[in-house]
This record gives sequence, C-alpha cells and structure tokens, in this order.
Amino acid sequence: MTDERFDLNNRTIIVTGGGSGIGKTYSTVLASAGANVVIADIAGNEGQAVADDISSNVRRAVAITTDISSEDDTAAMAEMAMSTFGRIDGLINNASLMSTLERKPWHEIDITEWDRVMEVNLKGMFLCCRAVYRHMKEQGKGKIVNISSGRVWKGTAERLHYTASKAGVIGFTRTLAREVGDDNICVNAISPGFTESETQMATSTPEYLESRKVAYQKRSLKRAQLPDDLVGAVMFLCSDASDFITGQTINIDGGDAMH
Ligand SMILES: NC(=O)c1ccc[n+]([C@@H]2O[C@H](COP(=O)([O-])OP(=O)(O)OC[C@H]3O[C@@H](n4cnc5c(N)ncnc54)[C@H](O)[C@@H]3O)[C@@H](O)[C@H]2O)c1
Repeated sequence: MTDERFDLNNRTIIVTGGGSGIGKTYSTVLASAGANVVIADIAGNEGQAVADDISSNVRRAVAITTDISSEDDTAAMAEMAMSTFGRIDGLINNASLMSTLERKPWHEIDITEWDRVMEVNLKGMFLCCRAVYRHMKEQGKGKIVNISSGRVWKGTAERLHYTASKAGVIGFTRTLAREVGDDNICVNAISPGFTESETQMATSTPEYLESRKVAYQKRSLKRAQLPDDLVGAVMFLCSDASDFITGQTINIDGGDAMH
C-alpha cells in the first residue's frame, strides 16, 4: 500500500499547457495517480483531446481554452476547476513559450517577441497564481509548482528572452513562497534539462538533436531526458510528502548542472 503522504487521489490539479509536450505527460500521469485534472491550454483542441483520453481511461478530466496571459481566461480556468471539482489543490505552471521560439542570437530577437515571452512566461504565471490563490487560502492548503529551466544554471546560448524569463521563475517562486507561507501554500519550482518532448523534437533541427546526444555523454546519467523523468518530482511537490518544502528549485537533468 502507498504511504498516504504520497496519495494524490481526488486532489484537483490544474496543469497549464497540459495539451501537448511535457504538460500532456503531467496531466496523464497525475490522472492515473487519482487526481482530478484541469487542462488549461491556449491550444484548446489539444487540451480537450488529452482530457477526453484521460476521461475514457482513468477518471474525469476537463479542459478549458486558456491564454495564461489573459486575466479573464485565468479567472475562468479557476472557476472551471471550482465548479467541476469543488476545490483546487495544485497548480502546475507549465505553459510557456518555448518550442515555438526560433533559436537565434540575442541581438536578432524581435522586441515584440521579447515582450510576448515575458507576458506569457512570467505575467502568465502571476495571473494563474492570482486566480487560484483565494481558493487555496480558503481551503487552508495549496501546492504550486513552477516550471523553470536548466538553462538558467548553464547560461545556454540562444533564446535569451526565454532563459531570462525562466530565471525570473526562480525569483518569483522564492518571493511568492515567503508571502503565502502563512496560508500553508507551498511554492516550488523544477528546472528540467533538455527534454525530448514531442514538441521539442518536432521543432529542433537534426543537427541540434545530434549536438544534444554529445552533451548527454558529459552528464552522470548518459541518456536522453524524457517527459516521464520530470513527473515524479512534480507529483512529490503536489503531495503531502513535501509539506515542509517551499521556495525551492529542484534541478532535473540526469546530473549535468550540479545545482
Ligand atoms: N522540453 C524541454 O527541453 C524543456 C526544458 C526545460 C524547461 N521546459 C519547460 O517545460 C514546460 C513544457 O515544455 P514543452 O517541451 O512541453 O514545451 P512546449 O513549448 O512544447 O509546450 C508548451 C505548452 O504550453 C501551451 N501554451 C503556449 N502558450 C500558452 C499560453 N499563452 N497560454 C496557455 N498555454 C500556452 C502550448 O500550447 C503547449 O501545450 C515549459 O514551461 C518549458 O519551458 C522544457
């Protein structure tokens, strides 16, 4: 029998960007572990397809088309979770602009694109936290997991705006953790290394993917990192087993950057 501290049965967890890539894996595995999942993705059809798949297999999941940079959309996302499941136990702030961003030198980044990355990756996270906060506070407990990136530790070249936004996620996590500790809400982050999500694979050139294979040989665990490698830490941070952990960032990259 599983220790009850790890039990996610009937927890309601919102996964932003849960319609594809790594977010789809979080949604599916959390549902398999017994959680009610709310999938909030700007790609509404993809989110709905994941929710339908979960609902036909394990348990009820719902999807809502959400642009996390919109205050109205994030409010509707929280309302959907409350009206469907009656509570919000967890929020996985996974949606971001990443795989759709061209890898290019910093001085070629368009200013409009820079602003949009900050709007989605940082303001979007802020709005999602704002939307769920009241409910978590009233419940007397909540778990927020923010997705940063291992790029922050390594200063990986290209996509400067993306790396800067993911560094912001760590500061955001620390300060929010201090401010909501009295509400018994834990706020943590994970920083994944290059992960072979379906979207990452579809948008990376063969040359880039080849360079990653060389990089794998320089870390402790010399194999590709897959979306499944991230789920355990996210589940732990959503569970009671992590109740005294907050403001932290767990690096998950097979022992590359030793954060
Ligand atoms: N794959 C990697 O190598 C890697 C490494 C480190 C961190 N990450 C982070 O992990 C998370 C998931 O990565 P991924 O590879 O699945 O990324 P991805 O780019 O493939 O997926 C992002 C998801 O977010 C959704 N999304 C985009 N903009 C949105 C918006 N405004 N509102 C709501 N949803 C929106 C997309 O539709 C998509 O489902 C991201 O936060 C990414 O930055 C990924």
